[in-house]
Amino acid sequence: MAEVINRLLRSRRANWSRRMVREAHLSVDDLIWPLFICEVGNKRETISAMPGVERFSIDLIVEAAKEAEQLGIPAIALFPKTPADKRSDNGDEALNADNLINQAMRAIKAEKLNVGIIADVALDPYTSHGQDGLVDADGAILNDKTVTVLAKQALVQAQAGADIIAPSDMMDGRVAAIRQTLDDHGFENVQIMSYAAKYASGFYGPFREAVGANLKGDKKTYQMDPANSVEALREVEQDILEGADSVIVKPGMPYLDIVSQVKSTFNIPVYAYQVSGEYAMMQAAAKNGWLDLDTVMMESLLAFKRAGADGILTYFARDVAKKLNA
Ligand code: PBG
Repeated sequence: MAEVINRLLRSRRANWSRRMVREAHLSVDDLIWPLFICEVGNKRETISAMPGVERFSIDLIVEAAKEAEQLGIPAIALFPKTPADKRSDNGDEALNADNLINQAMRAIKAEKLNVGIIADVALDPYTSHGQDGLVDADGAILNDKTVTVLAKQALVQAQAGADIIAPSDMMDGRVAAIRQTLDDHGFENVQIMSYAAKYASGFYGPFREAVGANLKGDKKTYQMDPANSVEALREVEQDILEGADSVIVKPGMPYLDIVSQVKSTFNIPVYAYQVSGEYAMMQAAAKNGWLDLDTVMMESLLAFKRAGADGILTYFARDVAKKLNA
């Protein structure tokens, strides 16, 4: 009897056929565009470790938000580079209703765009030590005192027009505290997208340059150990119980197993953050002629979708949207 070969290659032979059997799809609706804000008027600043990414002054941030709307990108995520003289040990500039991110949000909101604004909640853009929260005399993070400040920071951001509050600090109990504070002040429709599983990672290096954070030490006492995945599920479960509307896994590509497990375990939107170091690696290799940027950019984002992500925060968002719209 002749042996039958199961020919999987058959369905890969033609473009039309590959499209028919394709499982994962990437669309502009999957993209969240992180943007950095700087102070001086009508100005853009380059970030050496992130070629193609710039910091925008407030007026240019408004233009970027308009561009996001035109391209169909559903949401932008804002990160300020706070001037050095406004940073302090307790990061109280975070609570200033007229700080950079709040000014930027008011300016964008005035345009009434069909684009969601995601505001980052954490103290690292505002502290002189670069930690995400308040620290004691020995530099140890003070969880509960930090949570109190973060809830105030979230409220000030909601008042400035944030549609989604995204706590990236990893303190315990902050989602509940933020939810309570927002609800108490009539902001029950402001969403919380929590960085639920955020790892103490080496891949954030270029971001710290972008926001001018001069980190002393590391963040291992509050961000997760890269060795752990069961614990990530516990983090996500906790944030869901505290009222998160969606969760983020961060970094992205080295943590696709976490994205996949979170998506298969919980009924909640899951976003992956393709962080600054991932972006920098691809750009650097492409610059050397070692990788084809377009190919790896699209492949890396499709991989997030295959793993189960509902969307991706990516510095490639504008380029990818242009490509998908072409
Ligand atoms: C900190 C924060 C970080 C990033 C987003 N929010 C850095 C950190 O935790 O030290 C990193 C994003 C990136 O690397 O692209 N609140």
